[in-house]
Amino acid sequence: MKRLENKVVFITGGSSGIGKASALAAANEGAIVVIADLEETNHAKTINEIIKTGAKCLFVPIDVSDVNSVKKAIFITAEKFGRLDVAFNNAGIAYSYTSIHETPEDVWNKQLAVNLTGQFYCVKYELQQFLKQGGGVIVNMASLGSLKAIEGLVAYTAAKHGVLGITKSIALEYASKNIRANAICPYYIETNMISTAPGELRKEWTERTPMKRMGNPEEIAKAFIYLASDDSSYCNGIEITLDGGVMA
Ligand SMILES: NC(=O)c1ccc[n+]([C@@H]2O[C@H](COP(=O)([O-])OP(=O)(O)OC[C@H]3O[C@@H](n4cnc5c(N)ncnc54)[C@H](O)[C@@H]3O)[C@@H](O)[C@H]2O)c1
Repeated sequence: MKRLENKVVFITGGSSGIGKASALAAANEGAIVVIADLEETNHAKTINEIIKTGAKCLFVPIDVSDVNSVKKAIFITAEKFGRLDVAFNNAGIAYSYTSIHETPEDVWNKQLAVNLTGQFYCVKYELQQFLKQGGGVIVNMASLGSLKAIEGLVAYTAAKHGVLGITKSIALEYASKNIRANAICPYYIETNMISTAPGELRKEWTERTPMKRMGNPEEIAKAFIYLASDDSSYCNGIEITLDGGVMA
């Protein structure tokens, strides 16, 4: 028996990076996969790769910072498949490094809008669907920046700390409704998000990691599958840290 057989799995930011690797892993575990991402992303390539696994798959456009877009994407998913079993709230953005006193207000506002408020919008409407159908599982994408400060990324760090707050609040308030919520906290992972960082910085991140390498999206996808499936049936309100030993 595959671990997500016939489960409807909704993944924001599912067109690339960690979201894409998780979508493919879910497809290989028997899931029906919904890729929810910005319209302009290269989702067709991801959808084709998922279809090749034999899984059912759907793309729904979403901008997680726009509440109406979030409501619509979740509504379309539930209408099309009759339910929503697992939601991976993974969409996120990074920004270039600045000191706190030099961080532009518009950077702060955009970071919070996508990385924190976007998570709130998603979980709010996912929970409404879960309550209607009698349960569900949420996995939220946090970061090592949810557990410690990352120099030069005040807005990202603040938003990602908030993601753990949302996750724990769900765990506390909805445990009796057959709903679980957990989070994933990766350190640097080889995706588009960090591919444009200067070579010197990437070298510094690698050297700071006891394992002397960055993670890859497939390693994060394995943690997602664990939290999404019944393998983690007694986990609620926790975070899994994948950091090559940095927090040690
Ligand atoms: N790569 C890393 O080092 C790292 C480390 C820790 C946490 N994370 C987190 O992992 C998540 C995935 O990032 P990734 O590394 O795979 O990067 P990525 O850039 O490959 O993927 C991010 C995805 O989110 C989508 N997205 C961005 N803004 C959106 C919006 N407003 N609405 C809907 N979708 C939107 C993008 O289109 C893209 O598909 C992010 O939340 C990120 O903060 C990444």
